[in-house]
Amino acid sequence: MEVIIQPQQEAAAHLVARVIAHELRANPHLVLGLATGSTMECVYRQLVRMHREEHLDFSLCSTFNLDEYVGLIPADPNSYRFYMNRHLFRHVNIDERNTHLPNGMADNLEEACRQYESLIKRFGGIDFQLLGIGRAGHIGFNEPLSALRSRTRVKALTPTTMEQNAPFFGGVEHMPRRAITMGVGTIIEARRCMLLATGASKATVLAQAVEGPITSMVSASTLQLHPHCTVVVDEAAAEKLIEKDYYRWVFENEPEWEEYR
Ligand code: F6R
Repeated sequence: MEVIIQPQQEAAAHLVARVIAHELRANPHLVLGLATGSTMECVYRQLVRMHREEHLDFSLCSTFNLDEYVGLIPADPNSYRFYMNRHLFRHVNIDERNTHLPNGMADNLEEACRQYESLIKRFGGIDFQLLGIGRAGHIGFNEPLSALRSRTRVKALTPTTMEQNAPFFGGVEHMPRRAITMGVGTIIEARRCMLLATGASKATVLAQAVEGPITSMVSASTLQLHPHCTVVVDEAAAEKLIEKDYYRWVFENEPEWEEYR
């Protein structure tokens, strides 16, 4: 795992967007794993700008989102399909048929989860997975005690996550209590993972995920097992990391990061 510390949220998101753009230019058929949430809005803004100003081409790539609420139709402004259309898909030249989210409206949710896994396989697996981290330490909606080898399935949201996302719904009582999420096992099979965390509210859980023990209590800690995972943070989210100086030194010296410094 590598950790890159940027001065502010905007710079951190910009770096992540530039890495995605680099991957997409190197492989126009990229299979991109996507996340939603406030943190990602800056990343999508940058990608849209790169599409408009730098001809970043999405026409051949495919996407798989990490999660979707159970019981929300795609037209619901709180559904993740709606979020993706609003922040990215509608503004770039992606073929909508190549964009995938779990079907939280399926009559048979278990079957929908199995189909999602098969579809990912049929596309050859995920090349690059973008991730955020929740205050409960989740990636996707893999709440505490999610099995480290779990696959796409329905999860009940923890009170911490309900509290985190309730403002979007105008209160916890209007929020779905369950979501379909890729499993921890599904996520760490991606060829490359990049986690973006910004803001002081993520500092404690981020330090647990990066420098703490691998534990299902903090599902993001499983990324320590991944052979190619980069964690990008702003100063506020990096606050509780013990080895900050070392991470800065690596970023300043590794040739891989030269064009991003
Ligand atoms: C959503 C997802 C979640 C979020 C996390 C952080 O698709 O994967 O794990 O990344 O809850 O959300 P924000 O960015 O709103 O703090």
